[in-house]
Amino acid sequence: MKEKLEEIKNQFLEELKHISDINSLTVLKSKYLGKKGEITNILKGMKDLSPQQRPLMGKLVNEIKNDIEKHLNSKENEISEKEKRKILEEEKIDVTLPPRGTSIGTLHPITQVMNEIVEIFERMGFEVVEGPEIETDFYNFEALNIPKNHPARDMQDTFYISDDLVLRTHTSPVQIRVMEKQEPPIQIIAPGKVYRCDSDISHTPMFHQVEGLLVNETVTFADLKGVLTEFCTIMFGVDTKVRFRPSFFPFTEPSAEVDIGCVICGTKGCRVCKDTGWLEILGCGMVDPEVFKSVNYDTTKYRGFAFGMGVERITMLKFGINDIRLFFENDLRFLNQF
Ligand code: PHE
Repeated sequence: MKEKLEEIKNQFLEELKHISDINSLTVLKSKYLGKKGEITNILKGMKDLSPQQRPLMGKLVNEIKNDIEKHLNSKENEISEKEKRKILEEEKIDVTLPPRGTSIGTLHPITQVMNEIVEIFERMGFEVVEGPEIETDFYNFEALNIPKNHPARDMQDTFYISDDLVLRTHTSPVQIRVMEKQEPPIQIIAPGKVYRCDSDISHTPMFHQVEGLLVNETVTFADLKGVLTEFCTIMFGVDTKVRFRPSFFPFTEPSAEVDIGCVICGTKGCRVCKDTGWLEILGCGMVDPEVFKSVNYDTTKYRGFAFGMGVERITMLKFGINDIRLFFENDLRFLNQF
């Protein structure tokens, strides 16, 4: 039995030599000291020994058991020390390395021009309001004097969500929402996203507009001309030519579209202005009394003007950009230029 114990111990020491991780150490431990381990088996066999032999052998087995435990413990310490050192080594921070550097982004050109437009009108006393991008048929069409089956509904390729809900095709519904809540005087602008089912080099399904509305008891078309001419000269430069051309919108009467002298050719005529020398930048007019009726305003007392402009179009003209899709491609080589 004594030889058997020596043999077990030597075998254990031999196996221990090859162990270098905690998992195999645990396996080794249970092989010798576990419930069915080698040493445990020997301890179980003690009952078959004679009473004289038992204390002697018991002492020997315990010694060997303690010895094995000691070896296991010191191996465990050794392994965990090694692992700690490895982690320290791997996670060492080299404080002398140069920093990676941060690059700062810029505002998107559309955002920049939007901010500029808003600022110009704020200086003239307009207050900024916003409305929802999902609108009911009533706000987007009906209240703006565009009844069902009116041909003007075809002018705007509408995204319908249901029979009654649309993605707003313009910012004009904000006019209605403001007038419903508030009596004149009103002087607001409403910047925001609008949606039309349209896509080519000058149209995207989503684009931005800025709406304007001024209502009081005395305003005239001359005031409208003054405000928008002032806007154009601040936006495009003092020498910019501005003209008001008769047009039609169901919600304004009379209506006009505003053109500026072509920024590319300076009214001589080119590809961008289609040889007309002029570029259309917004729609406007005096608020139609039918619109006042839909918000229960006294049409004999109040008058107003309204306008709406496309921000992408103004940005393209201001920076000489020839394809609207560039705004939505997130190409940094394009965006970094602004
Ligand atoms: N809502 C019109 C459009 O989207 C623009 C407009 C607004 C015209 C206000 C007149 C008055 O085309």
